[in-house]
Formats: sequence, structure tokens, C-alpha cells
Amino acid sequence: MKGVILAGGKGTRLYPLTKVTNKHLLPVGREPMIFNPIKQLVSASITEILVVTSTEHMGDVVNLLGSGKSFGVDFTYKVQEEAQGIAHALLLAEDFAKGERVVVVLGDNIAVKSIKPYVDSFRRQEKGARTLLKEVSKPTEFGIAALDEEKIVSVEEKPGNPKSNYAVIGYYMYDEKVFDLIRQQKPSERGEFEITDVLNEYIKRSELEYDILPGDWTDAGTFESLSVANEILNQCQNEIL
Ligand code: G1P
Repeated sequence: MKGVILAGGKGTRLYPLTKVTNKHLLPVGREPMIFNPIKQLVSASITEILVVTSTEHMGDVVNLLGSGKSFGVDFTYKVQEEAQGIAHALLLAEDFAKGERVVVVLGDNIAVKSIKPYVDSFRRQEKGARTLLKEVSKPTEFGIAALDEEKIVSVEEKPGNPKSNYAVIGYYMYDEKVFDLIRQQKPSERGEFEITDVLNEYIKRSELEYDILPGDWTDAGTFESLSVANEILNQCQNEIL
């Protein structure tokens, strides 16, 4: 199983902090934001990791992370030239994956409890995809899952009328068919290839499983959430538990 960290985008919601740097390099607690996603993958014994970022800041990302030796991992880097959505960025991982399953982490997602138990469940899962949910107070700002007793029945990106308070958060596990599914996808109304549409394809096939992530979690793409991310990681001194 291989890891993919998506760390592209323009970070416009954090302007001017992101005027000359990439959002994922901003400090959170005592470390750059992207260290948390890396440590999450390492905690789940994933050591081959692709980092996808934009052209402008690739140099800085490579300067910071290097070969991966200091994390005990092996990094590969790919440039995302245009920001056309998370699913579009994931397509860049196809050659890297070489037919293996992938664990995809959004570079601005910050969590304290390790994702290892859920990655292990995915290792045992025969096929399909697996994702993590978290209850949120502002469901209109996330991909939101509609749930029945057992399963996710649909996922909607930033819904006007959310069907639950459970957000699909930035940790996605996919089997090898994810790339074919993305290729069949059409862009959404906002012109992006949405990660939530990929999950809906797995739902159609009854192949999407989920777990609820315990412990503190936030994404860090706005001033408000970046401040929460700082609080969370200051409390645990940037360690994964
Ligand atoms: C993205 C996804 C959304 C998900 C969120 C988690 O949103 O599109 O489905 O709930 O990450 O961080 P974005 O932060 O790009 O608005």
C-alpha cells in the first residue's frame, strides 16, 4: 500500500499568509502543517509516499522534506500544474501506485489519533474504498455523508441542506480501480473533479466502508481552522497518539 499527500492549491482563504508560500508549509504548533499528514502515514506503516504540490512551491517543499530519510520514508514528488480539484490531483498518482492500493491524505488535515487501525482494516478489506468521518459543527463547509444504520448512502460536497453532521474528512483509502473511476468523472458545477464524486462511485458499487476518527481533528484551510489546528497540535506537541 502506498501513500499520497495532496498539497497543491492556492490557499486563497489564507491570503496573505499564502502569498509567497504554500499553505502546507505554514507552521502549525511546532512544525510545518505537512508534517502531520506525513506522520499519520508513517504511523500506519506506509513508507512510500508521493507528495503532489503546485509548480510555484515545489522547490520549497523538496527543500523541507528532502528524500524522506529523516522520517524513515521514501518521497516521490509530482507537480500539479492546474488546480482542477482533489480527484484530478490524485490522477497524478497512477504511475506511482503501480497497481497497488493507495491511502490519500489531504495535506491540510490535522489529526492527533493515528489512522493506523483504519488503514489496517482497509488492508483486510477485500476490495473497494474506505474513508473516515468526523462530526462537525458547520456541515455546509465539508463533504457530508448521508448514513443509514450501516453504510454511507451518499456524499454531497458542501451541501446547502446537509443530510447529517458527519463530514467525510481528508483520509481516503482506494483500491486500484480509483484511477479508472476518476477518468470517467465529469467536473462539478464549480469546475472541479470532486473527491466526493469518487466516493459516490464506490457507493454505487456497494464498496465504500467507513470509520469514525476519534480524537481531535481539523482541516487548516481558513484562519479559524488554522488557529484550531495550532491549539490541537500545541497540546500534543505535534505527536501522533
Ligand atoms: C475538501 C473536500 C471535502 C472534505 C474536506 C476535508 O474540502 O472537498 O469533501 O470534507 O476537504 O478537509 P476543501 O477543504 O478543499 O474545501
